Amino acid sequence: MRQTRPFLPARLPQALWLAVAILAGCSGRQSALAPAGEDAAQLKLLFIVMLSGAAVLWLGLNGLFWYVTRHRPGAMPVARANAVIVGGGVVLPTVLVGALLAWGLSIMPAQRAPGEGLTLRVTAEEWWWRVEYWPEGATAPIVAANEIRLPTGTRTELRLNANRFIHSFWVPALGGKMDMIPGRETVLTLRPDTPGGYRGQCAEFCGPSHALMAFEAVILAPGDFDAWLAAEARPARPPETPEEIRGAEVFRDEGCGACHAIRGTAHAGLVGPDLTHLGARGSVGAGTLPMGAQALQDWIAHAGAIKPGVAMPSYDWIAAADLSALATYLESLK
Ligand code: CUA
Repeated sequence: MRQTRPFLPARLPQALWLAVAILAGCSGRQSALAPAGEDAAQLKLLFIVMLSGAAVLWLGLNGLFWYVTRHRPGAMPVARANAVIVGGGVVLPTVLVGALLAWGLSIMPAQRAPGEGLTLRVTAEEWWWRVEYWPEGATAPIVAANEIRLPTGTRTELRLNANRFIHSFWVPALGGKMDMIPGRETVLTLRPDTPGGYRGQCAEFCGPSHALMAFEAVILAPGDFDAWLAAEARPARPPETPEEIRGAEVFRDEGCGACHAIRGTAHAGLVGPDLTHLGARGSVGAGTLPMGAQALQDWIAHAGAIKPGVAMPSYDWIAAADLSALATYLESLK
């Protein structure tokens, strides 16, 4: 005896809940569907138009399939069968896909528009981001790391490089991805329009800590941005409290300055991230831990466990009091 199958699969409710859960991720600070800039808004429109076109094609072709299978073989008049084949197999896909292609090509030049004013140079390292701000006419950059800040209403040029491996620069809320290739500079321009904090993420598998290679993208109104950039250009705040002074001594004695720079001090290492205004950043370890004294302690003592493959040694021999003082000093570098 033939068993009758239910029309809908028994697991459909679970599948729907899963779809709802996945789609719920399509909002917030790391979503291409919650644009905070001109480029991301255009890509969202592109996604919706392409999805609609695909839906029309899918429904049209399945409708035709359903229609022709209602007929016994040979029962359909030849003229109508030819019309179905030519209409559904040639005219519908050609017109629809051709229109989508033409429209898609027409919006590409806007994505390649040149930047104006400030230029950022971002270099992908293992596994963090070296960031240099080049104001117009500057002869030396303002160096930062693991966070980019951009003004609203201006198209800023980002010149992208990579140290050893191929990475990909991506802030979904601001625009599309761009590969970062050793020895070959790529250029991306972004025009944000909504102030706020967004999350960027390396979008090309680049090694053991690829998933931990994130960064903050902070969008500021032009006046706020200018004030921030002026502050960022200043040397580091000197240690003031006894705890901070002790922390600065630990930094010196442990040789941290061989890899890290703190402008305004003798420490000028170029291997690791610049720490001049570390405490003002939103995260520790390139988007891995939220900024704070405890996170800094954990990072310094266990960097290798927190971020596999990281070049920084785990300083697990530093005495607890010294580690705490070091973290306090680093957090004070606002
Ligand atoms: Cu860098 Cu993935």
